Amino acid sequence: MTEPLPKLAKIPPSIVATTDYEAFARERMSAQAWAYLCGGATDELTLRDNCDAFQRLRLQGRVLSDLADGNTKVTLCGSTFDYPILLAPVAYQKLAHPDGELATVLGASAMKAGMVVSTQSSVALEDIARAAQTPLWFQLYMQPDRDFTRGLVRRAEAAGYRALVVTVDAPVSGIRNREQRAGFSLPPDVEAVNLRGMRSPPPHTARAGESALFGGRLLADAPTWKDLGWLISLTRLPVLVKGIMAPQDALRAAELGAAGVIVSNHGGRTLDTQPATIDALPPIARALDNRIPLLLDGGVRRGTDVLKALALGAAAVLVGRPCIHGLATAGAVGVAHVMHILRSELEVAMVLTGCRTLASIDHSVIWPPAART
Ligand code: FNR
Ligand code: LAC
Repeated sequence: MTEPLPKLAKIPPSIVATTDYEAFARERMSAQAWAYLCGGATDELTLRDNCDAFQRLRLQGRVLSDLADGNTKVTLCGSTFDYPILLAPVAYQKLAHPDGELATVLGASAMKAGMVVSTQSSVALEDIARAAQTPLWFQLYMQPDRDFTRGLVRRAEAAGYRALVVTVDAPVSGIRNREQRAGFSLPPDVEAVNLRGMRSPPPHTARAGESALFGGRLLADAPTWKDLGWLISLTRLPVLVKGIMAPQDALRAAELGAAGVIVSNHGGRTLDTQPATIDALPPIARALDNRIPLLLDGGVRRGTDVLKALALGAAAVLVGRPCIHGLATAGAVGVAHVMHILRSELEVAMVLTGCRTLASIDHSVIWPPAART
């Protein structure tokens, strides 16, 4: 086994696209950490399709539009961002860099990018907030102990987080064959520190001939729509629901008072063989009909991907693995560079499709017209 290479202090000129970071990142972490950070569920069909589906879409170039005084500003659930690309919540970032989320939040702050901090961050949510000079949202996993969950919400409120992102697509972990084959387990120095002190039900191991899930505690404690209502009534913060793939679930979240919905298949890490998020987006956008903001994540690697998501109904996107690749390669500088690349590519794509602001991005930028559903 080869030792991970040291982090880079400067970005090599050969890194010009977000995907250029992958090879550099891979050499800078253990094979086990790589399997966790990059892998998806079972055959990783959804993981790949998230990217492939963006690549299948074509854009319609436009010329000679007046683009003076354009901008990419967006206001979402009470937070204003200079551009519609946020860092997705990713657990255990110390696996990628010894400073973990502290390096990420520095990079995000340098680029004025919004960042969503995971419940399972490896640095305390308060420490990340203290280091931040950019709007933060807190991603919440509702815990079996609802009192502890309430405590987490109060901590996020007190630390100045501006919204909660409740992730609802992972009541059970996906089956991660890549992690299993690599023998991944968390190293002793990486921990979900926000969850310290929580009472957890003992892990359930099914004996041969027993159900793995049904009948156990896990599903009895898993959140339901009732718990979403409870959460929304509990906090003054806007609550976005992350992990929506069905129009009827998006509508139900809106009816319950959610402030926004994030179309996401968890980066292909939960239910494999779901469609790509960009393919799932149009019917969800139609169902929501602009009632509440719709965001998307999964497979965003290029500024043209961001433009396509906005054209098909998203107000903003979130990016997961590319930021982690930047972090693993060069810490805060790598994260900042990834966000810089995406933002610059988005702006170029807007100019070349004749879009001066995000409001002018609509179905007409997708080619051919028949694909603009
Ligand atoms: C995630 N994701 C995730 N989501 C969440 O709500 N809470 C979490 O703690 C995590 N943790 C996590 C760890 C790792 C290693 C990855 C790769 C992803 C999912 C994440 O927020 C997002 O939905 C996807 O990563 C988006 O897909 P891309 O951009 O990675 O293709
Ligand atoms: C994951 C969990 C932490 O995707 O959301 O690994």
